[in-house]
Formats: sequence, structure tokens, C-alpha cells
Amino acid sequence: MASRPVLDHEPREGVRTFTPRWRNSPLTDERMATLLPARALPEGPLVPTEAFGRSGPVVLEIGSGHGAAAIAYALAHPEADVVAVDVHVPGVARMLAAAEEAGVANLWVHPGDVLPLLRDRVPPATLAAVHLFFPDPWPKQRHAKRRFVQQHTLTLIASRLAPGGVLRIATDIDAYARHCREQLAAFGGFEVVEGERPAWRPDDGFEAKGLRHGRTVSELRCTLLP
Ligand SMILES: C[S@@+](CC[C@H](N)C(=O)[O-])C[C@H]1O[C@@H](n2cnc3c(N)ncnc32)[C@H](O)[C@@H]1O
Repeated sequence: MASRPVLDHEPREGVRTFTPRWRNSPLTDERMATLLPARALPEGPLVPTEAFGRSGPVVLEIGSGHGAAAIAYALAHPEADVVAVDVHVPGVARMLAAAEEAGVANLWVHPGDVLPLLRDRVPPATLAAVHLFFPDPWPKQRHAKRRFVQQHTLTLIASRLAPGGVLRIATDIDAYARHCREQLAAFGGFEVVEGERPAWRPDDGFEAKGLRHGRTVSELRCTLLP
């Protein structure tokens, strides 16, 4: 018999969705020092007109890694402002260098845990979309509490999305896709459509690796219900 999903309606004390273990190279430090200031969010609450000088759609990517998807989205959607968030500083530094190389003007970068950013600085109904691509799967059952998609994170994301806003999730791990379906079904605040791969997303990285290993990629487009 399938076990019932664990539903965490509040964050668990001390449980993080990442392992903060890395060392910055001198190149990483240099990129952070020289390239971050122009793309960093201003202190305090995120007010798009103040942060970006306009009030177009704001799209936030959670765990943007080296930034390939965030950069591609920003280039394909010049009307949007993209906020790419990752806690892993060497990856953020690579993203900054790639964004510079691509000459992308509408990409903003936040190095850090996305949860306090969303909770404390992104006002309700600010975001047109949230992207979560190939999140850390935390495959062991005892680590399930560390998976990003939980009742409390869905509540937070739903509250920060504007009416009709969209949460997009992609994963090449079937167990994670199942976990997302269970959590989304229990949450109930989104209409979920599966199988739509966004054409603008580059198909290298985790997606290509998953396919190479014979896995399939699950795509979930979750539209906020009124
Ligand atoms: C498996 S990687 C995928 C990276 C990228 N989306 C891709 O497809 O290449 C997951 C990323 O999520 C980041 N991450 C995990 N939890 C996070 C959190 N709470 N806030 C910000 N980043 C997080 C990790 O640091 C890691 O870079």
C-alpha cells in the first residue's frame, strides 16, 4: 500500500533544502565583487518600479544554478524582469559571468536562500511566475522533509504570485515528480497541467543528463486558482 505523503504546513526548525558546503575560488570572489553589484536587488522589500525602473512581469527562479534557464528566459522575454536565486555562491558567480557574456539586461541575481527572500522581502501578489527546474531530489525518504516542494513552500509561493500566476516545475526524477503531484494535490490551490516543455529553456544540463541516463522529464505547469 502506498504511504501517505507527509504534509508540512510549517517549516521544520533547522531543516534546509540545500547543503551549505563549498569553497569559493579567487575567480568566484572576483566575479561576485565585480559583477554582482549591477545585478543585485536593492535592500528591503522588492518594489519592481524601484528595483527595475519599470513594472513589467517579474519572474523568480528558485535554485537557478549556473543560470542557463534564467538567462535564456530573460533573453526571450525582454518585457520581463527575472530574479535568479541560488544559495551556491560558485554557481551564482558562473551565472553572473554568463549573463555578462550574453549581455542580458533584465536579469537580477540574489545569492542566498530563497525562502527568507520570498517570506520577508517579496510582497504578496508580486510575481508573474516562479520557476523551479531540476530541484535537488533528496531521494532518501528520511530526507523527504528537505525537498523544496512542501505545503508551506506552496503556500508561500501562492501568496507571492499575482492572480493567474504560474509555478513551473521540471524534474527528471520520477519520485520527485510523484512527491510534487502529491503535495500539489494536497495543497489544492493550483490547476496543474503536465507535459508542456517550455521552448525557451535550454536542453542541456540536468535535462540532458537525465535523458542520457534513460530518465524522463516531468513538466508541471501550475496556475494559481482564484
Ligand atoms: C540540482 S541544482 C539545479 C540547478 C539548476 N536549476 C539547473 O537546472 O541546472 C538545485 C539548485 O538549487 C539550489 N537551492 C536549493 N535550495 C535552495 C534554496 N532554498 N534557495 C536557493 N537555492 C537553493 C542549490 O544550491 C542548487 O544550485
